[in-house]
Amino acid sequence: MGEQISRRTLIAAGAATALSVPALAKALAKEEKHKMEPKLVRVPDAADLEKAFSTERVGISRKTHEEHLKLWQGYANKTNEIRKALAELDTDPAKANQIYSQMRALKVNYAFAFGGYVNHNVYFDTIGGQGGAATGEIAQLINDAYGSFEKWAADWKATGIAGRGWVYLGYDHEEGRIQNYIGDSQDTFPTWNNHLILAMDVYEHAYYLDFQTARAKYIDAYMQVIDWNAVNVRLAKARGH
Ligand SMILES: [Fe+2]
Repeated sequence: MGEQISRRTLIAAGAATALSVPALAKALAKEEKHKMEPKLVRVPDAADLEKAFSTERVGISRKTHEEHLKLWQGYANKTNEIRKALAELDTDPAKANQIYSQMRALKVNYAFAFGGYVNHNVYFDTIGGQGGAATGEIAQLINDAYGSFEKWAADWKATGIAGRGWVYLGYDHEEGRIQNYIGDSQDTFPTWNNHLILAMDVYEHAYYLDFQTARAKYIDAYMQVIDWNAVNVRLAKARGH
C-alpha cells in the first residue's frame, strides 16, 4: 500500500475487501503517520516594527508602519493557511486542472502569499538604519556592478518609479554580482540563483499616508533609512560566511 494513498481510497478499499475495523484503523493510522506536518511561518507582531519607527525622522510615519503590519501579517497568515491546505490536498493527478483545480488555486496563490511574506520580511529587516552611502561588503559589490554608489542609487530610485510594487536588490550566486530588479507584484521576483538582500515596497500603502502620490519623495526618504548593516548580514548569509 503506497504512502500517497488517500484516506478516501483506503476507506473504499476497506469496504471493497471487507477489511476488519481494526485493520482499517491501523491503515489509517499509518497514513496519518506519513502525512507531513506543514511547517508554519512566524506571524510578525508590533515588536517587529521597533526599528522601522525610527523612519519618523525622514517623514515615513509610525502610523504607516502600523497599518503596513496588518498587510504583512495577512501574508503570513495566508501562507500558513495554504501550507495547511497543501498538506491535506489530494494529489491525484486526475483532479489537477490548469483552468481551475484546488492544486492550481493553492499553488498560484501560495506564491503570492509567501512572496508577499518574504518581501515584507526583507523590507522591515532592512529599514530603520542610518541610510546614506552603502558600507561594508555590499559597498564593494555596488561599485563592481554600477561603478559608484551614486549611480546605483540613481538606478534604484528610477527602478522604484518604474515598478508597480517592489524594487529588489538581488545577489546572484552564479555571477557573484548584485543587480536592481522590478517586482510588479508579490510573486514576480524575476530570476533564479538570486538571493534577496534589500527590498523596497513601492505599493501606495507604503507611502500614501505620508507623501500622497509623491512616490519620488518617499523613495528619497527611504534612501536615508536603509539599514546597510542588515543588508550586509543578509549578503554574508547569502555568500555562506
Ligand atoms: Fe507592503
